[in-house]
Amino acid sequence: MRLAVVSDIHSNGDALDAVAREIDRQRVDKVVHLGDLAGYNAEPEKVVRWARENTAAGIAGNHDAVVSGKASGEFFHGPALSAARWSAANISPDSLGYLSELPESLRLPEGILLAHGAPSDPDRYLFLLEDAEEEIDSLSGDPPPNVVFLGHTHVPAAFVRRRDGSTVSAPLEGLRVGEGETAMLNPGSVGQPRDRDPRSSFLVYDTATGCASWIRVPYDVPACQRKVLAGGLPAFFAARLAAGT
Ligand SMILES: [Fe+2]
Repeated sequence: MRLAVVSDIHSNGDALDAVAREIDRQRVDKVVHLGDLAGYNAEPEKVVRWARENTAAGIAGNHDAVVSGKASGEFFHGPALSAARWSAANISPDSLGYLSELPESLRLPEGILLAHGAPSDPDRYLFLLEDAEEEIDSLSGDPPPNVVFLGHTHVPAAFVRRRDGSTVSAPLEGLRVGEGETAMLNPGSVGQPRDRDPRSSFLVYDTATGCASWIRVPYDVPACQRKVLAGGLPAFFAARLAAGT
């Protein structure tokens, strides 16, 4: 099965348009999302509606939890909190209901776990190898998942526990999860990439071969920026899209 994994779309309808076209072109069997559908940008309703209609499974991100009222957002910086409130005010009751019902993490039958930040905590950022090692050590289940997809950092990444027990930060190019290995794979962000490449990022994973391909997609950044500014959202969120930060 070819699985498209998208994360952190963050109300960016223009990035989503480009990624959805590329997903069609990739002829995947299923699409799953890792949360943060809402927040930051100006089209939460469009993004949540797309997720409801086009994804087979998904989980809540920390921004979705604030938008749907399940979390207070007390640890958010001011602009992020105001954008979450803006999303909540510009979304349909049905879409708000969908966000509030998303689970924190989700186990799929193919040995796959979906998590937002980390399996232990949706708010934890997995940037560092030692943090990923700790998370792999504490994976539960019988058997535990062998592939964990996670987002939250907005930076594409792969951490792999090899058969010899070592854990590495693996190159994304040509990555294959082999028999007996455990991988934590971050597709990067569709709607607010932060690796200094403004193009949207997502990945396609083949459950039969274990091969993962990261895909970058250019989109109409100025169109999204205009909507952010027209909506009265913090200008900072428009500016960072062009820099990919
Ligand atoms: Fe996010």
